[in-house]
Amino acid sequence: MVMATKKSEAPVAGESATVTILDGKGKREQALPVLSGTLGPKVIDVRSLYGKTGYFTYDPAFMATASCESKITYIDGDQGILLHRGYPIDQLAEKSDFLEVCHLLLNGELPNAEEKVKFVHDITYHTMLHEQVINFLRGFRRDAHPMAVMVGIVGALSAFYHDETDYEEPHARMVACYRLIAKMPTIAAFAYKYSIGQPFIYPQNHLTYAENVLHMLFATPCETYKVSPTLAKAMDRILILHADHEQNASTSTVRLAGSSGANPFACIAAGIATLWGPAHGGANEAVIRMLKRIGTKDRIPEFVNRAKDKDDPFRMMGFGHRVYKNFDPRAKVMRQTCDEVLGELGLGDDPLLPIAKELEKIALEDSYFIERKLYPNVDFYSGIILQAMGIPSRLFTAVFAMARTVGWIAQWKEMMEDPGKKIGRPRQIYTGYPKRDYVPISRRG
Ligand code: SDX
Repeated sequence: MVMATKKSEAPVAGESATVTILDGKGKREQALPVLSGTLGPKVIDVRSLYGKTGYFTYDPAFMATASCESKITYIDGDQGILLHRGYPIDQLAEKSDFLEVCHLLLNGELPNAEEKVKFVHDITYHTMLHEQVINFLRGFRRDAHPMAVMVGIVGALSAFYHDETDYEEPHARMVACYRLIAKMPTIAAFAYKYSIGQPFIYPQNHLTYAENVLHMLFATPCETYKVSPTLAKAMDRILILHADHEQNASTSTVRLAGSSGANPFACIAAGIATLWGPAHGGANEAVIRMLKRIGTKDRIPEFVNRAKDKDDPFRMMGFGHRVYKNFDPRAKVMRQTCDEVLGELGLGDDPLLPIAKELEKIALEDSYFIERKLYPNVDFYSGIILQAMGIPSRLFTAVFAMARTVGWIAQWKEMMEDPGKKIGRPRQIYTGYPKRDYVPISRRG
């Protein structure tokens, strides 16, 4: 096992911040501890604030709130930095592979040769679904969105693995992690095959994880399907780029669901549901719809103006990010992969690619985008690659969910292993009616 160079064991206290409160009770100050991590902003520990002052903090979209301590992923939005257990995303995308990154996210270190063989074997031998799960699939309409199917099927797996409900036990947690990572491609592929009326193609143990994704999606019983090494490499890189991303909306959902002790399969189903939204993981599918709607380069200015118009609901999908106020480092790797894949497939004339590149160029030179630090994010180019690989746009977010499952479950595992874990229960500022008495219907207006 490769030993880590340096990480902090816990947030370091020492400094403090003072809140000065001036209200009807006069002026008073309250000192609060400041905690430091290994990298990134320090935090003001407000856990004692309500008890000491009677005040809550207010941060409805968590714009400035650290919800947990984590050692898994670090993002610097200003510098465009993304580290997984300290390793930069561009190095992992270039030099590692998805299952190696899964081991890193789950266990904190890159596997040595022996550990890698065992981990790949263990994941490989969990890729099959219980045959009865297919009954659930057949209950969906053929035109059901793959994300609706994934929410349903993954949630239903909590009924298949209820026997290992003691997730305080490390082995049960490890098995749940392996099952979820291993089965997501099978579920996504089965959902796709069901939607096009083709027979399910089962995973093959001699194939790599990424090769199996493509095999299950595109093979048929009628002929031998040879997985393209180019497409397998591109798929593996896309999976790495989407694996984890700190406390994004879907990961926060998984952590909150898990904090109640809910079954991990149900927690991941909640994460899938959150990822589906167009403001989050659904953006890759929305980018392709947007590029097709723009249609030609000469219509780009029209849509850039619409994106800037507050009265127009149109947004530039694939642009902007809550954390990145610089280039999303994943978008850079994705754009390079786009060029490689389209070039190797002889699709350099893909009509959407020049529109995407021109749109990126125009937006990055436009003061509206510059002032708001709106850059292409991970979703801007991923859809073009996936489409070039023959994957239908309705399946794009399911591919994102396939990759993000390791991030969700690694963060769930970290939360479960936290000796100080507590159920998450935010408060609110109440602006509704003060107390009032019931009014009988005879006296209502
Ligand atoms: C992902 O959190 C994660 O890490 C997510 C993710 C992950 O790996 O898990 O990185 C994956 O979800 C990437 C984001 C994919 N979504 C999109 O591409 C959808 C389009 N982007 C936007 O909806 C938006 O940028 C968000 C949702 C991504 C971020 O929104 P914020 O942080 O709440 O920012 P905001 O809406 O407050 O915008 C700030 C300003 C506003 O203008 P003003 O009110 O200040 O005048 O920027 C504008 C917004 O109107 N703006 C956009 C825009 N994004 C923000 N204007 C036009 N087009 C856009 N895309």
